[in-house]
Amino acid sequence: MKSAIYPGSFDPITLGHIDIIERASRVFDTIYIAVIQNKAKSPFFKIEERITLIREIFKDNPKIKVEGFDGLLVDYANAKKVYTIIRGLRALTDFEFEFQMALINRKLGIETNIDTVFLMTDEKYSYLSSSAVREIAKLKGNIREFVPHNVADAIEKKLKLS
Ligand code: COA
Repeated sequence: MKSAIYPGSFDPITLGHIDIIERASRVFDTIYIAVIQNKAKSPFFKIEERITLIREIFKDNPKIKVEGFDGLLVDYANAKKVYTIIRGLRALTDFEFEFQMALINRKLGIETNIDTVFLMTDEKYSYLSSSAVREIAKLKGNIREFVPHNVADAIEKKLKLS
């Protein structure tokens, strides 16, 4: 059984992330979507909300497990005994940061040979990011072609309450 971890803040998950997860699920038997708890950025959705939204999206796909994590990604990987990390590449500009992160994770996970597998996103999502979605929503633009329905509904609800 081949397993892998797809880490991110997913604030919110977008169709670009989902495209990467679908590509990965054609290669791996189990994918752990690892939602980071603490990041320098103050989140739009709480971690529990992000996890719930992602679980709803993949409720019919038993290959996909959604969990939160905090601390180093390699520590999470070691705890799960899963030593492959998935990352999506959207454009050349992602490469330098991803290259650095992959090498740091390889160094930190040297005993267990942690490695990173890169998947190219569909070009129609190459411009997409979570913060762009948040900004469009705040400015009352249409986000429905960038995120699944449940995420769009949750964003609109949160903005109405704020
Ligand atoms: N489609 C759409 N958007 C995408 C995307 C895709 N395929 N891939 C990335 N993005 C977006 C993300 O939504 C995010 O948007 P935002 O900055 O507007 O919120 C942006 O691109 C950056 O994504 P990413 O690089 O995945 O950052 P992240 O915050 O989602 O996740 C972690 C970063 C969690 C993987 C990384 O910080 C981590 O591993 N942290 C743990 C600490 C650690 O181990 N550090 C040592 C390693 S350096």
